[in-house]
Amino acid sequence: MRRPIIAGNWKMHNTINEAVELVNGLNRNLADVDSVDIVVCPTYTALSDVNELLIDSNIALGAQDVYWEEKGAFTGEISPQMLKDVGASYCIIGHSERRKYFNETNETVNKKTKAALNAGLLPIVCVGESLEEREANRTFDVIKDHIEGSLQGLSKENMANVTIAYEPVWAIGTGKNATPDQAQEVHKYIRGLLKDLFDEEVANNTRIQYGGSVKPDNIKDLISEEDVDGALVGGASLKVDSFTGIVKGAVT
Ligand code: 13P
Repeated sequence: MRRPIIAGNWKMHNTINEAVELVNGLNRNLADVDSVDIVVCPTYTALSDVNELLIDSNIALGAQDVYWEEKGAFTGEISPQMLKDVGASYCIIGHSERRKYFNETNETVNKKTKAALNAGLLPIVCVGESLEEREANRTFDVIKDHIEGSLQGLSKENMANVTIAYEPVWAIGTGKNATPDQAQEVHKYIRGLLKDLFDEEVANNTRIQYGGSVKPDNIKDLISEEDVDGALVGGASLKVDSFTGIVKGAVT
């Protein structure tokens, strides 16, 4: 059985005070949830303060990106070791916004994923097609390219620490989520790719989150699909009530 995982990607939102307020609310509302892994991914500037509030909490801390070098002259970058140092356990890698606005490629996603794993972080590796690609019937090709390129050279043991997030770009921030059928179709395809790349055990054990306009009122239908193991949530993770509703909706 794969344990559900719900992660909030706060993107470039929340001052430190706002972050603290949000996490205090989540701690209050979610303390009794023990069957779902819960993660919040604030901006770098709020990681330290949020970590303080998560020390005795069932909510884990994640970052939204990472660089692949341990240290050095890389102005503006943050290393995996620094994320461990600030208390993060997870790290989102290769989000479509990073692929689109910051020239992230499969190659850089792969380097970041390996570096994160080497430092003991748990990567959430994002893949997903654009609307144009879906309409041109290229969804599976794009997903194959993202999965193979991003996970290249990883071992089966590494994969025990990797979560995949399927985030169709057309569903992100649009209010137009993939239907449960559409999500299931791609998640099943990803599981097949994992079987080809690694083995059946890796395919069966790897958690695949869906992301894109997840809300309290659609999480149950999405997560009831066989291959959907959770959600990576953007907008609805910024409010205590909606993120609470999504996490509780994932409790089986
Ligand atoms: P929304 O939930 O706002 O559509 O964002 C999804 C996302 O990009 C999470 O990483």
